[in-house]
Formats: sequence, structure tokens, C-alpha cells
Amino acid sequence: MLHILAQKNSLLNQFIAELRDKEVQKDSLRFRKNMERIGEVFAYEISKHLDYKEKEITTPLGVSKINIPTSKIVIATILRAGLPFHNGLLNYFDTAENAFISAHRKYHKDGSFTIQFEHLSSPDIEGKILVLSDPMLASGASMEIAYKALIERGKPKHTHIVTIIASNQGINYVKKHINMKNVTIWAGNVDDELTSKSYIVPGLGDAGDLAFGSKM
Ligand code: URA
Repeated sequence: MLHILAQKNSLLNQFIAELRDKEVQKDSLRFRKNMERIGEVFAYEISKHLDYKEKEITTPLGVSKINIPTSKIVIATILRAGLPFHNGLLNYFDTAENAFISAHRKYHKDGSFTIQFEHLSSPDIEGKILVLSDPMLASGASMEIAYKALIERGKPKHTHIVTIIASNQGINYVKKHINMKNVTIWAGNVDDELTSKSYIVPGLGDAGDLAFGSKM
């Protein structure tokens, strides 16, 4: 199942437009803030697909019944670009546990690269709702590595793969290399082109650099 949120008009489109805009990008605080706000929007949309149980709430004047989410959530994020997005998800899933995956592009002499998996810190994910986020789903290779590293340690009840900008190629790669039973993909927008260096076009540039500054 694939949801593309920008296909339906909402305030999210304004946040995505600002993320992509090369003038607005000069304000890295706004860039991070928009990523965080988008994380909140995704959390809200995903919350419509959780398990709920009725609860009685005692108000000063009586008792009110309301359905409350009961799912146990683990938010997993690929470092480093995903950190503000992660914060946004965590702002709404305030009791969620957290996992972090570190992977980087290892460039070869011919200019090609492979994704090098480095580190995973994760709580037990068995039977829980895994929200696996990466703001840019480019080739899909990091997402595959992160997902497979996580499910080696436990089987989530359902996984929500969440990304702000995806490439068509990345979506197809994930669908091909990850067993999509009990997996939903959420994308803000999907772009058609991926460069030979795996940058999404039109995309927004390097999300990690825009949020945190350029690296060596
Ligand atoms: N990561 C980014 O930050 N940007 C892209 O276009 C692709 C991967």
C-alpha cells in the first residue's frame, strides 16, 4: 500500500514547497522546522491506522468515553538527515520507543557507491508498530538495509515506511526488495528522476547538509 499525501491538498504542501525552495532553504532553522512539522503531519495520518480501545475519562463534570490508540510504536530513523523528521513523529507519538540506524555511502574509484551499514540501536520491535523514516527515499538501498537490520531482531506487527520526497525508482526498489505484507509506504511527494549519484530531481538537494551544514 502506498499513500502519497500531497495528492490531496493540505497545509503539508506548503511545508514541502518551502523545503524544496532554494531561497527558503537558506534558513536552516526553517528547513529543520518544516521537516519536524511534516513528521507531525505523517504521525497524525498514521494514527488513523492504529489499534484503538475505548476509555472512560473523568471530567470535572462527568464521564466521557473516547477511543484511545493502544498500539506500541517504535520510531526508527536513518541518521543524520532524518533527525528533525524523527522529532516531529515523536512530538505526536509521545510514548514511542526509538531506534537509530547509521549508514553511509561508500564511494568507489569509478564514482559508484554502496551503502555501508554501521550501527543500529533499537528496542525490541516484536509485535509493535514500526515507523521507519528517512526524509529522502532515493535509490531505496538504505531503506532496505535499515529495514532488514531491524527485522533481524524481531517481527513488527506492521511497518510504516515514511518519507518526505521519494523517487519513483526508490518506491519500486522498496516494493521489490522488501516483503510488502504488513508494510505501508507513506510519501509526501514522489519525483520521477534520480541522478547517477542517486539525487532525486527536482528533489530538494542534500537534506542532511541543509538541516545540519555541509560535511567533509
Ligand atoms: N538524500 C538527499 O538528501 N537528497 C537526495 O536527493 C537523495 C538522497
